[in-house]
Amino acid sequence: MGMTDFDFDLVIDRRGTSAAKWAQATADGGPPLLAMSIADMEIPAPGQVLKAMAERVEHGIFGYTMAGDDYLEAVAAWQLERHRHAIRPEWVVTHHGVLPSLFQLIRAFLPPGSGIVVMTPAFPPFLDAIVLNGHRVVTCEMTRHGDSYAIDFEAFEDACGDPAVRLFILCNPHNPTGRNFTADELHRLADIAARHRVMVFADEIHGDLVLPPGRLVPFLSVCDGLDIEVVAANGLSKTMNLAGLGLSNLVIPSQELRERFEDAVHRSGEWGVNPLSRAAALTGYAHGGAWLDALLDHIAGNMAVVDDWCARELPGAVIPVRAEATYLKWLDTTGTGLDEEELMDRLINGQGLLVQAGSDFGAMARGFLRLNLACPRTMVTTAMTRIARAIGPVTD
Ligand SMILES: Cc1ncc(COP(=O)(O)O)c(C=O)c1O
Repeated sequence: MGMTDFDFDLVIDRRGTSAAKWAQATADGGPPLLAMSIADMEIPAPGQVLKAMAERVEHGIFGYTMAGDDYLEAVAAWQLERHRHAIRPEWVVTHHGVLPSLFQLIRAFLPPGSGIVVMTPAFPPFLDAIVLNGHRVVTCEMTRHGDSYAIDFEAFEDACGDPAVRLFILCNPHNPTGRNFTADELHRLADIAARHRVMVFADEIHGDLVLPPGRLVPFLSVCDGLDIEVVAANGLSKTMNLAGLGLSNLVIPSQELRERFEDAVHRSGEWGVNPLSRAAALTGYAHGGAWLDALLDHIAGNMAVVDDWCARELPGAVIPVRAEATYLKWLDTTGTGLDEEELMDRLINGQGLLVQAGSDFGAMARGFLRLNLACPRTMVTTAMTRIARAIGPVTD
């Protein structure tokens, strides 16, 4: 199937569905809300996935359900086919979300007051997972190089050398900068973490969303021969817009670690999977590849629209960071001369445009904003018009 077989430009009204992204209030009487914040899509799941769910509904019985060997095999087959990464089905543990898994792992595995390393700018819930569980955030700032970001390996080595540090939360590919880390970069991170006996939680929930012509390098694939504890997380929640269905996977090659994690889940009273989520994901893994290829072309097109718009209409004021992966566009707005609060007020209350403020991702990201481009093209152009209006004439 080619791209023309899928329609990613249909605008679907999510009001009345209690969608989290669209629940935020804006100023009364302002322009209609346009939500481009939280990382889910304004694009429906693949048609075959919807059909599989409808058939499962038709079956009528929604009793206690297990992941099943066929599901674990589908996860392994997808990793092999899409990412050339061989994993064993028995390494896969299902859970109801990547964040629940991370919180669970932190609670079960780390002594109180541990240090946990994150690369900033960082997905805000990583910081919550650390702080809310009584641990300490140890930051490793990424460095900006032109329109992209690089890992500061010296800072990472220092961070891992802190004797209290037990865990590194890697986001691969990286939200919000859109970096798709290379095998060399990942290997250097793995080597440093292994030398300092730091466990790695490799959050690869955006892993299927590497934009063409890039490819994901799964973190586990660079760990061969290293004495390192790794828990990798993936799933179709971002890939096929199934986040609300609450099904995700952990890949844990170490049997000992896997059993410890399963025991922690068991002790918290959690069990089984949602039967509709299972039906959706099974079909997504089996038949969603062509749809995903077309979606990635659509997202790359949306990214290009933003890049062109910024260069043409907002030169020097808004500088887009090059996205190698994810549907999240990271924009440097420091050139507008507006402080972040002022710009956010103008965007949200003046223009009805919901975006994520840079400072949510760490103090160093103040003056940036994150724009979710998993949407019809018309939403992208409307958002850019509103951003231009919010900024107004740029003064030097
Ligand atoms: C890096 C990253 N990890 C995890 C999540 C949330 O995953 P889940 O819904 O499976 O908890 C998100 C959602 O935005 C994310 O961007």
